[in-house]
Amino acid sequence: VEGLKPRISVIGTGYLGATHAAAMAELGFDVIGVDTDPTKVDALSAGRVPFHEPGLPELILKHVGTGRLRFTSDLADAVATSDVHFICVGTPQRRGSHAANLTYVEAATKAVAEALSHDGLIVGKSTVPVGTAARLRGIVADAKPAGVDASVVWNPEFLREAHAVEDTLRPDRLVFGGTDAKSEALLRTIYAESISTGTPVISCDLATAELVKVSANAFLATKISFINAISELCEVAGADVSVLADALGHDDRIGRKFLNAGLGFGGGCLPKDIRALMYRANELGATRVVGLMQEVDEINMLQRQRVIDQAIDACGGSVLNRKIAVLGAAFKPDTDDVRDSPALNVAAALHLRGARVLVVDPEASNTAALQFPTLSFADSLDEAVTDADVVLLLTEWPVFVNADPVHLAELAANPVVLDSRNALDKEVWSSAGWEVRPLGGKI
Ligand code: UGA
Repeated sequence: VEGLKPRISVIGTGYLGATHAAAMAELGFDVIGVDTDPTKVDALSAGRVPFHEPGLPELILKHVGTGRLRFTSDLADAVATSDVHFICVGTPQRRGSHAANLTYVEAATKAVAEALSHDGLIVGKSTVPVGTAARLRGIVADAKPAGVDASVVWNPEFLREAHAVEDTLRPDRLVFGGTDAKSEALLRTIYAESISTGTPVISCDLATAELVKVSANAFLATKISFINAISELCEVAGADVSVLADALGHDDRIGRKFLNAGLGFGGGCLPKDIRALMYRANELGATRVVGLMQEVDEINMLQRQRVIDQAIDACGGSVLNRKIAVLGAAFKPDTDDVRDSPALNVAAALHLRGARVLVVDPEASNTAALQFPTLSFADSLDEAVTDADVVLLLTEWPVFVNADPVHLAELAANPVVLDSRNALDKEVWSSAGWEVRPLGGKI
């Protein structure tokens, strides 16, 4: 392997794996993506991405075309024809528990080890509780054929959905956990382009690498819950949390990013990662961070209740039979991902209270309808807002934020908008006749 261009397999083709595979092909490597789901494999092989991620379909189509990227459900074949194996499968929250479900990571790693026909490097990218990688080393040692050299290192991924391609091609740091001289050199070959343009590399032990990833997400979640806790105070004190966040952000020790007060965080990562952190820290007896994360989680979930209460209030005390327009279903703009979506959570709660809820989302209606079959979805913003007693901006898609408030005011029965992402231009909407109620700001 050394000195040659390594061939790459990527196990798991969700947001992380599909993007990583495409990015590796873009960097000039021969890549084979593996997934147990044959419909995913078929779609990707035809250059179709089964989820919305800007720029990814183009990149996949390009490299399916160059022949550097292919997809298969035959893991053994993929492993036999490659040298470095990236584990990119999911670690969702376990049902009825805060713990991460490690079944997929363990099964994928074991399957790779069993299929090795020549020396290989197994690189974990999935987000895992600290201590997992060390355990996987034992699984690999037991499962690999005798005489084959296989090591396990950890190289966590920090990509954001909706920015996955740029984050993968131009990461802001690279973390290599548990490498020796040989695996370190191999990873440096793979990431040579980023490293040559100045991306810092942090080489560390396995446990540190695992914890860097989890701590990064825990910190981001803490930042959001911090500003949301302050937003509650702003509301009762008559202060404006958006102006406050701008002022805080000028201190570069704090920074303005992830200080947008509002409905809070959702998605497939932040919520489950802080819970998995609580669970693992508790197991290890490190209880301070457990209490801290518990509070972060609680503040986050309370934001959803605050918006529900605001909607009830805007409808005069009861939402029964009131028409509520919900703008947004995705957990954030520019994705069709609805995992733990705060917007859908609020929509479903209001629906349960008897409101006539109509949800609109530019990309996520289909995925949302699968999860929430009792909710109704509109095809357009106009349709959702028509005759609405109150409008809720729950996901700050640009098409909503930049919509014409004069036109929308003519459609609504009652021009009241809950700006639950603090994203609207208050003056513009107010002068168009809307009553704008922010979350945690001055009314
Ligand atoms: C997050 C991290 O940002 C990535 O660095 C990480 O790699 C990824 O998880 C992961 O572990 O895979 P992602 O879940 O795609 O990425 O989404 P974010 O952009 O972090 O947004 C998370 C949530 O926070 C969204 O619901 C968003 O609306 C909310 N948010 C974000 C706020 O409520 N306020 C803010 O100021 C920023």
